[in-house]
Amino acid sequence: MRVLLTGGTGFIGSHTAVELIEAGHQPTLIDNFSNSKPAVLDRLRDITGTDIDFFEIDVRDEQALEELMNVRSFDAVIHFAAPKAVEESVRRPLHYYQNSVGGTATLCEVLDRHDVRNFVYSSSATVYGMPEELPVTEDSPLSVLNPYGRTKLVCEYLLEDLHTSDSRWNIVSLRYFNPVGAHISGLIGEDPQGTPANLLPFISQVAVGRREFLDVFGNDYPTPDGTAIRDYLHVTDLAEGHVAALDHLATSPGYDAINLGTGRGRSVLEMVHAFERSTGGEIPHRFVGRRPGDAAEVWADVSKAERVLGWTADRTVDEMCTDAWRWQSMNPDGLPATA
Ligand code: WQD
Repeated sequence: MRVLLTGGTGFIGSHTAVELIEAGHQPTLIDNFSNSKPAVLDRLRDITGTDIDFFEIDVRDEQALEELMNVRSFDAVIHFAAPKAVEESVRRPLHYYQNSVGGTATLCEVLDRHDVRNFVYSSSATVYGMPEELPVTEDSPLSVLNPYGRTKLVCEYLLEDLHTSDSRWNIVSLRYFNPVGAHISGLIGEDPQGTPANLLPFISQVAVGRREFLDVFGNDYPTPDGTAIRDYLHVTDLAEGHVAALDHLATSPGYDAINLGTGRGRSVLEMVHAFERSTGGEIPHRFVGRRPGDAAEVWADVSKAERVLGWTADRTVDEMCTDAWRWQSMNPDGLPATA
């Protein structure tokens, strides 16, 4: 299929572009480089051995999207483009609503005018807030506490309403748990700008010597080792889940939301120790207070993804850490700012 990837040079988008090409699809990537770098395109060419069809476009730019649709035809879209930092969203809610919600609405208007209505949406487990019951199923209550999570949920409602208004729209919202790791080549990986907000990139920057130590946010949670638990999954498993979602849309029209995780929770300390096992080095860390808004435990029921998509996340936590470390040790300072 000819697939438009918005946010295609981002962490999840770039890994999905690799898996799409390897599955025989023809992706076209667009990105505004607000949270990624042009050098990703060179790396994708190195990995796939093919040229990468790319346009520098912001999804809020209706004219640019129209011009794209006049020179390219698509069978489906995977929509990654959106800001994704919880803390930033609290400081800059308008930026999040304009980009996430406004960008999604503009994109869908243009797609509708060009009869492109197979749509995979990059959603997040953050829509479950602090779940009361575990594992989290797709029917668990939705409650979001920060603007980032609210924009993800509002976009899910936008897309569900769009399908309800016109059943020609076939949409699946993929609720990611905690994507980590990197492509096995070490050529692409998680390359956050500034200080990493997320656990694994922070750990890998400690391991490579860019950070002195890791602050573990809370060791007084009601969990076996006192540190918080999440459902970490390998980014390549996640990328393969998007390929499965595209195939699903081709045969099963409608609207759906599906969890993508491993179905197993692991604590912060378990991830620290797994990373130490994978790199053979020590990750200096200290325990500090809990991070506001953090849940003690979040992990997924992934039976629907297996039933509906025929997808499971099979890569181990050691593969997640080994691949993350390969990327970080090959790119100690991340990718260069210019291609
Ligand atoms: C994981 C655990 C922290 C950093 C968020 C978003 C989610 C997705 C992933 C975008 C928590 C602890 C972290 C550190 C730590 N974002 N931690 N020290 O919060 O589960 O999910 O990021 O797609 O939508 O909600 O992920 O990696 O930030 O934190 O102790 O320096 O690691 O407290 O328990 P989170 P995370």
